[in-house]
Amino acid sequence: MSDSVKLYYQGKEYEFPVVESTIGDKGIDISKLRSETGLITLDVGFKNTGATKSKISYLDGDLGQLYYRGYPIEQIAEKSTFVEVMYLLLEGELPTQAQLDEFKHNMNKYSLVSEEMKHLLKGFPRSAHPMGVLSSLTSALTAFNPHAVNVKSEEDVRRAATLLLAKFPVLCAWTYRLKLGLPLNYSDNRLDYVHNFYQMMFRFPTEDFHMDEVVVDALDKLLILHADHEQNCSASTVKMVGSAHSGLFASVSAGVSALWGPLHGGANQAVIEMLEMIRKDGGDLQKWIDKAKNKNDDFRLMGFGHRVYRNFDPRARVIKKVCDDVFNKLGIHDEELDLAKKLEEVALHDDYFIEKKLYPNVDFYSGLIYKALGIPTEMFTVMFALGRLPGWIAQWKEMRLNNEPINRPRQVYIGSPKRDYAPIKDRK
Ligand code: SDX
Repeated sequence: MSDSVKLYYQGKEYEFPVVESTIGDKGIDISKLRSETGLITLDVGFKNTGATKSKISYLDGDLGQLYYRGYPIEQIAEKSTFVEVMYLLLEGELPTQAQLDEFKHNMNKYSLVSEEMKHLLKGFPRSAHPMGVLSSLTSALTAFNPHAVNVKSEEDVRRAATLLLAKFPVLCAWTYRLKLGLPLNYSDNRLDYVHNFYQMMFRFPTEDFHMDEVVVDALDKLLILHADHEQNCSASTVKMVGSAHSGLFASVSAGVSALWGPLHGGANQAVIEMLEMIRKDGGDLQKWIDKAKNKNDDFRLMGFGHRVYRNFDPRARVIKKVCDDVFNKLGIHDEELDLAKKLEEVALHDDYFIEKKLYPNVDFYSGLIYKALGIPTEMFTVMFALGRLPGWIAQWKEMRLNNEPINRPRQVYIGSPKRDYAPIKDRK
């Protein structure tokens, strides 16, 4: 017998079924709410609203746990690779060696980006923010890969996904190279995904290129840790656009723009800028903690707090360890890292952060690693987008193959009642 909830309104009783979950939140199915009661729900920011039923990732905000297709993120980060995680998120199961080899082979077929895309890229000023460039180039992929994706065809969706997974790292590296006025590197199919991305980002055609395995391992872990996170703002944006049967590239382009925001993926850049500001201001941590607590001050502790986590973000725990490993192995001492650790310590012992359950999130330490790897601050959110791409595609694919309807929320109108047009001569 499935569970249900009762609603009493204007003397009448209504009953709505409860949708069971494997783990975590169950949902009240209110698909008949308006037709039966004349009421809609109101939940600004969707803090209590489920948009879908999904099998891709699950996070427990109270326990600070995250699973990709049921596998705990800690195990995935330690034992898997980013390409294997791409397969897991898209297909639902860890691949056999043959399936993984075929997946990589298929990606390699699409790793060349149209030469004409370079004209678009070079039309941007070097001062352009890489996220704006990346969003534009991602949308432009439609122009150079015009075959419409039959959004109900699993084969068509799988091919479009593979094409995007193959070309996106090239676009990410090109946005970096544009910013520095450097020659563009091509994808090298002889290399695995992370080595290939690394050489596209940093190789100079004029000399041999050495890749530090410490950097490669850190990049692979960072990409894994960013790969998916339920119905977050950017994934929901990708799905909002895709729900209108817009193409995959256009949908992901919108997701890049949503991720750019400093409240979302842009926080990794904002954390470093915040730490640099605090350091230059003399390093008085309590002053900035007090500003973050002050309702009348719009300063927020970037990299802290989360819509769902009311405990440590499990990714932040793993990233903090990767951070220590990278700095120790590369023999780097970074003032901002020391400051970040002290800031975390002070905040976690402050009643305001304790009562509001504000903990470091995925963005608090990731920027410090990117900086240590030689990636410029404005590229940090591009790195987040590169990691999140398989999650965006998996969420878009799940929605499309479930044939979900176009997303069109309702509203509670509180504007003017009906009134007649007044000619300008009669207006006051
Ligand atoms: C990501 O959703 C996802 O899954 C996102 C993500 C993913 O993988 O996709 O995990 C990636 O976006 C991580 C979050 C990165 N953003 C930041 O680090 C920016 C700083 N954080 C905050 O802006 C905030 O915590 C949010 C935006 C992340 C969450 O905001 P909510 O859920 O809308 O919560 P809220 O703003 O209502 O905060 C609740 C209270 C408020 O105080 P009161 O009004 O109750 O008195 O906590 C306070 C807030 O003022 N608060 C903070 C704070 N975050 C929340 N106060 C100071 N510093 C902060 N960082």
